[in-house]
Amino acid sequence: MVYLRKVLAPVAGVYLYATLVSSYAIANPGLSNLQHVFSKPDRGIVDTVLDGFDHTRVLSPSVDDLVPKGLEQWIQQQRKTSWKFLLENIAPNGSNAKGAAPGTVIASPSRESPNYYYQWVRDAAITMADVIEEYAVTGDAQLKEIIEQYANLQGILQNTFNPSGGYTTGGLGEPKFHVDGAPFTEHWGRPQRDGPALRTLALIKYVRTLNQTEPSGIDKDWLMRLYDSKFPTHSIIKADLEYISNAWNLTGFDLWEEVDDLHFYTAMVQHKALVEGQGLAITLDDSAAAHWYESQQFKLRRFIQTSFWSQKKGHLRAFLNTPYRSGLDSALLLASLHAGQNDLFPPWSDEILASLAVLVADNAERYPINKRAPPYHAEGRLRGVGVGRYPEDRYDGVGLSEGNPWFLCTSTVSNIMYKTISQFLKQGFFDITATNLAFFSRLHPHGHAVKGRYTSENPEYQTYLIDMFKYADSFLNVIRWHATREGRLSEQFNKYSGTQRGARDLTWSYGSFTSAVDDRVLAKKALLRAITV
Ligand code: NOJ
Ligand code: NOJ
Repeated sequence: MVYLRKVLAPVAGVYLYATLVSSYAIANPGLSNLQHVFSKPDRGIVDTVLDGFDHTRVLSPSVDDLVPKGLEQWIQQQRKTSWKFLLENIAPNGSNAKGAAPGTVIASPSRESPNYYYQWVRDAAITMADVIEEYAVTGDAQLKEIIEQYANLQGILQNTFNPSGGYTTGGLGEPKFHVDGAPFTEHWGRPQRDGPALRTLALIKYVRTLNQTEPSGIDKDWLMRLYDSKFPTHSIIKADLEYISNAWNLTGFDLWEEVDDLHFYTAMVQHKALVEGQGLAITLDDSAAAHWYESQQFKLRRFIQTSFWSQKKGHLRAFLNTPYRSGLDSALLLASLHAGQNDLFPPWSDEILASLAVLVADNAERYPINKRAPPYHAEGRLRGVGVGRYPEDRYDGVGLSEGNPWFLCTSTVSNIMYKTISQFLKQGFFDITATNLAFFSRLHPHGHAVKGRYTSENPEYQTYLIDMFKYADSFLNVIRWHATREGRLSEQFNKYSGTQRGARDLTWSYGSFTSAVDDRVLAKKALLRAITV
C-alpha cells in the first residue's frame, strides 16, 4: 500500500463538488414524472414561447426568475438520459458496444454513413474523464470497473504497433483503433498529439480520485502499472508524459483531424498534462522526470502565451500556419475547458470570452436555423444559437458539403459561461476590458458595456452574472430543441432544418452535455446564494 499525500491538495475540489452535487440532488427529487413535459407531438413551440425568459431587470430575483421551469426540468431529465446513453457506448456492458474489448469507448454506434464504430483515443479519454468525475461523486463500483478496464486497454493500445509507429517511436500519437484493439491501417490524419495528453489527464485524475475514495492506500502493483518512476518506463501515464515532453513542438493533426500544424487545443492539453504529470512524478519520488516535465512545461507555456492571440482579429487562433483558415474555432473553448489554468487561458480569461463572442456572432449569422425565433427565445440579446466547429467547416457528418452546428460545441459555449460565473462569484469582482468588451456588451441591455472593475457591491455585478447565466442556459435550450424526444443526440444538427446529422448517439455529445450541466449546478447554486443574501 502506498500513500499519495502530495496529490491530495488538488483533490479538494472533488470533495466540494461531491457535496454540492449531492445537496443539489436532495433539493430536486424525483424527475421521473416529468416525462410528459417532453412528449409533445409538435416539439412544443407554445411551451417554449411560454418559457421565454423575463428580461425585465429583476430587483430581487429568485430561482423562478432565473430559469424558466420547463427548461430546468428538461435539463435535469436530459442530464440523466445523456448519462445513460453515454454508458451504452462503453464495452463490455454498454448495449451498443457488445463484443468490443472491455474498456473500449466507441465514438458512436453508427457503422456506416458515417462509420464511427471505432475507439478514438481523444473521444475515449474525454469520456473517461467524465466517468471518473462521476465515480468521484457516486463511488459507484461499476464505474470503477469501467475505468480500470479502460486503463488496462490503453496500456495494450500503447503497445500496439500502428501506422504512427511503435511504443517509443511515435505510436502513442495514433488517433483511432478498431473496437477490438486492432490497429486502424487506412489512410487518416495522423498523428494527433492531443490523445496521449487527454489520456494521461484522465488517468491522473483517477489516481487522485482513488487517493480520496480509498484513503487507506492504493494497490502498489496497480499504481506501478500507471506510473513506475523508471526510465525507460513501462507504465501508462509515464509513457504518455515522455511522448508529450519530447514531441510537443512537432506538428500533427488537430482534434478535428484535418490540419497538420501546431494547435492551441493540442498545446493546452499537453501543457496541463505536464503540470499534472510533474505533480505525480514528485509524489512518486521520480525527481529526474519531474524536472524534465517542468522544463518542458515552461517552454510550452511560453509558446502558448506568445503564439496564439491575435490582437488584430480580436480572438485566439486555433493554429499557427494554416493561412486559408481564420483560426476562429470552438476548439479554443474546448481547450480552455479541458486544460485552462488560472494563469493560462481559463474559461473566464479575456481572450477566451473574446473568442467565444466572435465565434457566436459568426455562427448566429452563418447558420440559417439560428435566425428562427421561436423556437428559440424571442428576445435577441440573451438568445443562444447553435454553434459549429469553425466557420469554414464543410464536413456534414458523412461527407463534405456544408458544415452544421454541433451539439458538443453548443454545450461547450454554455459550459465556459457556467465556469466563468462560478469564478467571478468566487473572486467577488470581474473586469470589463477592451479585450472582453464585446462579450459583455452582448449581455448589456443596450449593447454597450462599460469598461471597468465591477465588484459585488455594484448592482450591475449581479445583473451581468444573472444575464450570463440566462444566456448560457439559452444555448442548452437550443440543444433541447434539437434533441429527440427520447433525448438522443447525434453529432450535428442541420443548419437549415435543425434535424440531426452525422453519427447518431455520439458519445462525446452526451459527455459534453453532462459536463455543462454539472458546472451549471455549481454556478446556479453560487449565483442563488449571491443574489439572495
Ligand atoms: C472525418 C473526420 O473525423 C472529420 O473530423 C473530418 O471533418 C471529415 N472526416 C472530413 O475530412
Ligand atoms: C470527428 C471529429 O472531428 C473528431 O474530433 C472526433 O474525434 C471524431 N469525429 C470521432 O467522434
